[in-house]
Amino acid sequence: MCGIVGYIGKKRAVDVILKGLSYLEYRGYDSAGIALISNNNTNIFKAPGKLSNLKEILCLEKEENINATMGIGHTRWATHGLPTEANAHPHSCNCKSLTIVHNGIIENYKDLKPELEKKGCKFISQTDTEVAAHLIAHEFEDKKDLLKAVQSAVKKLKGAYAFCVTHKSMPDRIIAARKNAPLIIGVGEGENFIASDIPAIIEYTKKAIYLSDNQVAEIKTDSIKIYDENDTLIANKVENLPFEPIALSKMGYKHFMLKEIHEQPDVVRNVLVDKLHDEDTKVILDDVKLNKEQLSKINRIQIIACGTSLHAGLVGKYILEELTGIPTDVEASSEYIYRNTIADENTLVIGISQSGETADTITAIKQAKEKNSHILIITNRKDSAMARLADSLLPINAGIEVSVAATKSYMAQLLSLYILTIFIAENINSKENGHIKDIKKELLTLPSKLESILNDTKNIENIAKKYSSFKNFIFIARGINYPSALEGALKLKEISYINATGYPAGELKHGPIAMLDETMPVLAILNEGIVYDKVLSNCEEAKARQAKLIGVTNFIDEKHKNLFDDMVSIPEISDIVSPALNIVVLQLLAYHISEYLGKDVDQPRNLAKSVTVE
Ligand code: G6P
Repeated sequence: MCGIVGYIGKKRAVDVILKGLSYLEYRGYDSAGIALISNNNTNIFKAPGKLSNLKEILCLEKEENINATMGIGHTRWATHGLPTEANAHPHSCNCKSLTIVHNGIIENYKDLKPELEKKGCKFISQTDTEVAAHLIAHEFEDKKDLLKAVQSAVKKLKGAYAFCVTHKSMPDRIIAARKNAPLIIGVGEGENFIASDIPAIIEYTKKAIYLSDNQVAEIKTDSIKIYDENDTLIANKVENLPFEPIALSKMGYKHFMLKEIHEQPDVVRNVLVDKLHDEDTKVILDDVKLNKEQLSKINRIQIIACGTSLHAGLVGKYILEELTGIPTDVEASSEYIYRNTIADENTLVIGISQSGETADTITAIKQAKEKNSHILIITNRKDSAMARLADSLLPINAGIEVSVAATKSYMAQLLSLYILTIFIAENINSKENGHIKDIKKELLTLPSKLESILNDTKNIENIAKKYSSFKNFIFIARGINYPSALEGALKLKEISYINATGYPAGELKHGPIAMLDETMPVLAILNEGIVYDKVLSNCEEAKARQAKLIGVTNFIDEKHKNLFDDMVSIPEISDIVSPALNIVVLQLLAYHISEYLGKDVDQPRNLAKSVTVE
């Protein structure tokens, strides 16, 4: 989603900001802009489309217009208004003295706008952000100080924001503010940085201050002052940043997505290390702050998440109910928050989020927290807003995921859910030991089974090529692999824009079958287990309507021969662990179709890596 980079120091700000913004490109955006402030002068440059368009404009500029050592930059993911130059950030006031870049949504902008217009403010964009620009500029006329102007303005704003604000009459400072949108201040020597996420500044500093909600910061070359919501100066809490710059390299792969798919065997090893040693030893989860007694009181589990994380949660429901016997509901965060959800102190609420910053999930978690439920967060970002709200934390340690389409983080979430489920089951003695032992044994063999799929992808590549011209796809499965079908379809539509839908195989005949003919390929996941024969019958029904059939299976069966047009075999695996293998085939299929079609695999149109607005 939108990205912010600010710089104040001795370097050419344009270089630091453009580089920082390029490290945030992976998050998804559709226009970019920069404001450079020097000697009481502000120069603003903006361009719709990719950052390269903005760079081209800057290349044509005279050196004296772009040599400032202070500035703010932004990549915008359109919410209010088209991705045009006028709507791109930075925004400004009538006299162009003030500039602002903003992530989030100002919810009361429609209420504030007429009042500002009455005072003479001229609006030139359709954005909510421009309202904040004019509002702060008005406060500045009164207060004659940028910090005070921002402190006063934010009290009138509703919604979510992370801001950087400058004023040309105060070219020695940037004011930053945050509420419900992430913002960090990178601490340097004789220079300071501001960013909406770590990759933008990690090359320059490993020390940062995480702004909390309702805080406002005044950042100069050699000082950082943070104020709380009562405008009281508070002590700076400087923390070490967790990333190495190397994490942003493609390591020889054509796309980040392909690299991240191939990292999955190691991701599994990383999740299991220190938690699962062998099948005879109990799972250890140090950061889960629930003892035996507390765990036995839990009578309901609610999983809340969005997108791919929601699909991991759906697999979680199957394993949690199977192994712990505790009723488990899974709900999209955006649905959870607008109804009277039944939860209490005996409810375990599990929030799953790669980024830990998804606005809907944060709101849902806060809502559950008010009901005194225990909040357990499964996330890839130990430093995220969600992690900070957690009673118990389960970091998935997948490493930074750059591709917008989530792959390795899904794998790490799945594995974390297996481990968590076994941890609960072992503590409440819900299942006989033999079954749990078998699952543990299988989890330990997963990395080598994943490697065997990843070492030979030719068949999947050929199938991808063969089916890349189809405009629609149906994915079917039953039981624990139904979420795999949903996730496989999501991957395909995200990066190739093919209309792909996942269904429980049994539902095919209740509607979707009407769409079947030779133009609608059906991909079926057939795992040996209780639903195998049922899925096979559903495949027969599809074949009878002339649909092209692709099978993904762990079972060699003569019956497949005349039924399937194409088949992908995966290593032997039990039904309960099979989602971890099946999904890799579907990720590779989506990747190769998108790549074959020449789409922007890592940065698909309209999508954002981390959705920080509701
Ligand atoms: C966006 C991303 C998805 C992701 C979803 C939830 O839509 O494009 O890949 O699954 O957000 O994100 P989270 O960070 O909460 O897992």
